Amino acid sequence: MYDLIILGGGPAGYNAAERAAHGGLKTLLIEGRALGGVCLNEGCVPTKTLLYSAKIYDYAKHGAEYGVRFEGASLDHAAVIDRKGRVVKTLVGGIGATMKRAGVEVVNAYGEILGRDAEGFTVRAGDKEYKGSKLLICTGSTAAVPPIPGLREAVASGFAMTNREILDLKKKPEKLVVIGGGVIGLEMASYFNSIGSKVTVIEMLDHIAGPTDGEIGKILYKNYVRKGVEFLLGAKVTAVGSDSVRYELDGKEQSVKADAVLVSIGRRAMTQGIGLDSIGVLTDRGAVVTNEKMETNVANVWAAGDVNGKSMLAHTAYREGEVAVNNMLGKPDRMNYLSIPSVIYTNPEVASVGETSETVRAKGLDAKIESYTLKYSGRYIAENEGGDGIVKLIIDKEHRKILGVHMIGNYASEIIYGAAMMVDREMRVEQVQKLVFPHPTVGEVIREAMFMI
Ligand code: NAI
Repeated sequence: MYDLIILGGGPAGYNAAERAAHGGLKTLLIEGRALGGVCLNEGCVPTKTLLYSAKIYDYAKHGAEYGVRFEGASLDHAAVIDRKGRVVKTLVGGIGATMKRAGVEVVNAYGEILGRDAEGFTVRAGDKEYKGSKLLICTGSTAAVPPIPGLREAVASGFAMTNREILDLKKKPEKLVVIGGGVIGLEMASYFNSIGSKVTVIEMLDHIAGPTDGEIGKILYKNYVRKGVEFLLGAKVTAVGSDSVRYELDGKEQSVKADAVLVSIGRRAMTQGIGLDSIGVLTDRGAVVTNEKMETNVANVWAAGDVNGKSMLAHTAYREGEVAVNNMLGKPDRMNYLSIPSVIYTNPEVASVGETSETVRAKGLDAKIESYTLKYSGRYIAENEGGDGIVKLIIDKEHRKILGVHMIGNYASEIIYGAAMMVDREMRVEQVQKLVFPHPTVGEVIREAMFMI
């Protein structure tokens, strides 16, 4: 008998397992594939490994602009993929060791909830059944593959790939077509563009980067057009063939040749086949319904991470898992989704937190919105020849509270958590003015901007 059974060992599940064990709960973690989930095995970490190699290669290609010549620099894509494998292996092993140290029992099999009785819940994993008094569902998400004619067949033949397969592609495609100009599409387009593939991104909206602040999205778009990525915006994919993708643009059917296709048009919560019906857990459009304490509609059942479909980000998942465990341990806790930062690891990086120009307009908030060039930073100028990065502040007019901060420019990913604290703590402009930022850094433009808005 366990105090807690966790289904799924991704960021939500493994982190919650560690916290629960530290909190004194006898915890069982059930994972069907590898510990670390999508993030560690086929998402965040492997892409960052690839993108770092691309960045080194980009530095080499542009070295002359900084007075450094790297004649004959080349990138060995197969070697990059091999290194990615080693990085992932080290980290997956690390999670296994952490679970052991924390006293979490791990079962490597797919779990299915069979039902509940007076003692608690029964979960089958492999050929064994386990009982637990609490359940935490962290089964994550899978790539959406919509019913576009020919797409399923193209995925089966290997011509089209999701994030899972493309991260193991050993041969560089000469011509890559990316369906979907969201986060995954842009990060992979960035990598393959850097290593010399011809990349075309087909996006059905009239802009890339989804809910990212429009001004920032446009700067990113311009950067990648300059680098040679082709974008087909407002284009609808109508069919995938064996060596091409058909799409409709401005009412005209056209097609683009490819030797590989990436499908990155969003993800679906993984709620099928895990026995949610056996205990009556409510779902909405395939995602488990949770409240801000991560409770489901069933007592003693919580859900955290992509499976609740709220904010499909690994860092959200960590925090949601913790919120669930804290509430289980009788320590009241709740999620605040408004202050979750998000990052697109392109080059330049994009990082955001809080309200955007678009959400401010939609909500009718009375806000002051200003953008400032990152060229106010000496370090930015020193390190970014021709850079066009900005930081954008969104401030509520009445109380001068910081509602949103958006950046495009390198180091943005490492800077944004400071801005997330400002949004989360509802700090006012005058309070940030009194904080001291290190100099010279790119981040100090945020402080400088507080004196200009
Ligand atoms: P996404 O939701 O970010 O982007 C999907 C894009 O595909 C949207 O722009 C949408 O308009 C477009 N689209 C949908 N159907 C289409 C069609 N038939 N033809 C053309 N375009 C179409 O989804 P994505 O990129 O697959 O990422 C999935 C999840 O993974 C996201 O929730 C994201 O937050 C997360 N993720 C986060 C990363 C990060 O934090 N750096 C990195 C990678 C993924």
